[in-house]
Amino acid sequence: MKIPNHVAIILDGNGRWAKSKGMPRNYGHIQGAKNLEVIIEEAHNIGIRYLTVYAFSTENWSRPKEEVDALMKLLRNYMKTCLKTASKNRMSVRVIGDKSALDEDIQKRIEELERATKDYEGIHLQIAINYGGRDEIKRSVQKIAKKVADGILKVEDISEKLISNELDTCQIPDPDLLIRTCNELRISNFLLWQLAYAELYFTEVAWPDFTKDELKKALEAYHTRKRKFGAIEEE
Ligand code: FPP
Repeated sequence: MKIPNHVAIILDGNGRWAKSKGMPRNYGHIQGAKNLEVIIEEAHNIGIRYLTVYAFSTENWSRPKEEVDALMKLLRNYMKTCLKTASKNRMSVRVIGDKSALDEDIQKRIEELERATKDYEGIHLQIAINYGGRDEIKRSVQKIAKKVADGILKVEDISEKLISNELDTCQIPDPDLLIRTCNELRISNFLLWQLAYAELYFTEVAWPDFTKDELKKALEAYHTRKRKFGAIEEE
C-alpha cells in the first residue's frame, strides 16, 4: 500500500464526544491526548515519517478561561509524557506556532523536549500550539521583510522555497494527507501554505474514537487517490 510520508491531523470533536457521554469537555481533551499516543505509535509502526497535529489554535484563546487553562495543563503534562513516547519510538518533536505567548514553564519544557529528541529519526512529530496558518505566514513575511530592510536579501531573491524555509515547518516536507475528524469539512487556518497539494480525508468519527482501524481506513482512502500536482498526475 502507498503510505503517505507526512500526515497532518486536525484533532476535532473532543468536546462533542465528551458531551455525548454526559461528561465535561475537558474529559474529551484528556481522552484525546491519550488517543494521540496510540495513533503516534501506530503511525510509526506503519512507516509514516512525519505527523503534524493541531493541538491549540491562535483562535482557541477565546474559549472559556477554564477550558484554556485545562488545555494548557494538558499540554504542559504532555511535554513530560512525550519524552517517554519519543525515546520508545525514536521520535523527534517540534512545536510549531507562536511559542512566545505560552507560559514560560511550557516554553522551557518544549525546548527541553525538542533538544532531547532532535536527533531521533524514527518518526517526526510536529505539535501545533498557538498556531494559525495566517499568523505563521505573517511572521515569515516579517522575517523576510527585515532581511530585505537590513540589506541581507534582495526582493528578487524571494522564492517559494525561501518562504517555505522561513515557516515554522522549515525543512519538513509538505503533508501528503490531511485528516480531520468529527464531520467538519474545513481547513480552519491549519498549514495553509503547506497543504497546497495534500489529499483531504474527513471522517464523522470524533478524535477520541479515532482508532488504529480508523487510521487504516484513511490510509486506504489515500491509497486509492490519484495525486495531482498541477498538471502532472502521479503514476
Ligand atoms: C478540538 O476539539 C480539539 C482541540 C481544540 C484540542 C485538541 C487537543 C487535544 C487532542 C489534546 C491535547 C493535545 C496534545 C498534543 C496533548 P473541540 O474541543 O473543538 O471539540 P468540539 O468541536 O466537539 O467542541
